[in-house]
Amino acid sequence: MTHNSKQDFSKQVAIITGGGTGLGKAIAIELARRGASVVIASRKPENLNSALTEIVKQNSSATSFQVDVRKPDQVKALVEFTKSKFGKIDILVNNAAGNFLIPSEKLSPNGWDSVVGIVLNGTWYCSSFCGQEMIKQKSGTILNIIATYAWTGAPGVVHSASAKAGVLAMTRTLAAEWGKYNIRVNALAPGIMITEGASKNLLFDTEDVQEKILKKIPLNRFADVNEIAKLAAFLCSEDASYITGDTMTADGGRWLSNGILSL
Ligand code: COA
Repeated sequence: MTHNSKQDFSKQVAIITGGGTGLGKAIAIELARRGASVVIASRKPENLNSALTEIVKQNSSATSFQVDVRKPDQVKALVEFTKSKFGKIDILVNNAAGNFLIPSEKLSPNGWDSVVGIVLNGTWYCSSFCGQEMIKQKSGTILNIIATYAWTGAPGVVHSASAKAGVLAMTRTLAAEWGKYNIRVNALAPGIMITEGASKNLLFDTEDVQEKILKKIPLNRFADVNEIAKLAAFLCSEDASYITGDTMTADGGRWLSNGILSL
């Protein structure tokens, strides 16, 4: 692709949490391909290494940093590392997530803490530490990856739905507070992507289950991580310069298709 003026990310510095796998990795690849200096942040060194290898294979480059977003000290270290290496932070993508299917009555306090800790607290720690830098810079953009069940709720994922609803409220709140610093904060709610993490944890790794889900998706297919990554890049780009506090939904129409009639 030739770089056009507004979606060219050269001279931009981006942190992608959960950037070692799935959608996070696809977003990291997309931003790096368009010229950004990308820091992929993730808990597992093996995921960081394989993501870096893949980015290099595509003739781009990135840097990695090991972090558990549930730990404020580690998030602070990530932000300090990025600042000392690149001098600034333009883009934060809060993509790190944890999830598993479980009936609410069976969810333990530890299971709740684990998912809410990653999704809600982790998004806050990253937004807070990066936000302080962005406020000093008087520019920045934050993108939070959520899910449509942030506003619909969904059986089997009370921890994740509650946390993502919190992230949606955080998105709007920070957009309202930080607009005056020229910081945009948005959310992206992708539909189902068959990534390794998601299909294993949410148990849609069999053809049987996938067939059933497909019937509920008006566009009749799962999302491709690369098409969602392009939307993430758009929301982080200058082309989206007047969008803040918004949520873009890209789920093939799935959340609208829970009517009584199945036509
Ligand atoms: N079913 C039921 N309970 C589960 C579970 C599952 N599949 N996975 C974790 N838990 C519970 C554990 O039982 C534990 O609670 P307990 O001490 O009461 O038994 C608690 O969650 C924490 O478990 P732990 O193994 O220490 O997890 P963790 O905090 O290291 O990581 C996840 C848990 C959910 C974050 C883990 O699955 C993960 O790392 N996922 C990343 C990938 C992912 O989920 N991506 C989301 C794509 S949508």
